[in-house]
Amino acid sequence: MPVIRTKRFLLRPIEKADAPRFAVLCNDLEIARHTARIPHPYTHEDAEIFVDQLITARIKGDEHAFAVCRDREIIACAGTLQTGEHSWEIGYWVGADYRGDGVASEIADAMVQFAIGEMSAASVTAGYFIDNPVSGRVLTKIGFRDTGETVMITSLGRAQPVSSHRLELDVAEFSGAREVVIET
Ligand SMILES: CC(C)(COP(=O)(O)OP(=O)(O)OC[C@H]1O[C@@H](n2cnc3c(N)ncnc32)[C@H](O)[C@@H]1OP(=O)(O)O)[C@@H](O)C(=O)NCCC(=O)NCCS
Repeated sequence: MPVIRTKRFLLRPIEKADAPRFAVLCNDLEIARHTARIPHPYTHEDAEIFVDQLITARIKGDEHAFAVCRDREIIACAGTLQTGEHSWEIGYWVGADYRGDGVASEIADAMVQFAIGEMSAASVTAGYFIDNPVSGRVLTKIGFRDTGETVMITSLGRAQPVSSHRLELDVAEFSGAREVVIET
C-alpha cells in the first residue's frame, strides 16, 4: 500500500493502532452529520469497527483510506472507494481543530491523483450533502463539476436520508498539485 506525500501532509495506510485517535476525532457532530457512515455519539468500539472495515477493504482492494498526518499526528482522513470497473469515488473529513486551513483541498486533490495514478480511474466522482457548501467548494476548487443530479443518502449521524449533490471530474482535464508524490 503506497504512502502519499502532499505539500504539508503524509497520507499513510490506516492501522489498528489508530482506532483511539479516530475515536476522538470522529466524535464530532459536524463529521457525523456530513458523512454517511459515522454515527453520533461515536465510541471507541465504533472506531475499532471502522478501522477493521477499512483494513479489510484495503486487502480486498475496493477501498483505500488514508490517515492524514501532520508531524505524525492524525488530523484528517481521506479515501477512495471503487464504484465501477474504472470508477472511483473520493471522500474526506478533517478534524475540528484543523479546519479552515486548506487541509481538505490538499487531501482531496491527493485522493484524485491516487485514484487516477494508482487505481487507473477513468471516472472520479464525489458527493456532498446539500447543507454542506464548504465541501462543495473544496470539490469545485480542484476541478469537480456539479452533474445537476441529487440522490438521497442515509447519514448515520442524522439517522435519516439527506439529499446529496453528485459531482464528477473530467479526468483528461485534471492537473493536480505538483507537490504530490505517491510512493509505492
Ligand atoms: C468540509 C470539510 C472537509 C472542509 O475542510 P477544510 O479543511 O476546512 O476545507 P478547506 O480549508 O480546504 O476549504 C474550504 C473552502 O470552503 C470555503 N468556504 C467556507 N465556508 C463556506 C461556505 N459557507 N460556503 C461556501 N464555501 C465556503 C472556504 O473559503 C474554502 O475555499 P477557498 O480555499 O476558496 O477560500 C470539513 O469542514 C469537515 O471535515 N467537515 C465535516 C465532514 C465533512 O463535511 N466531510 C465532507 C463530506 S462530503
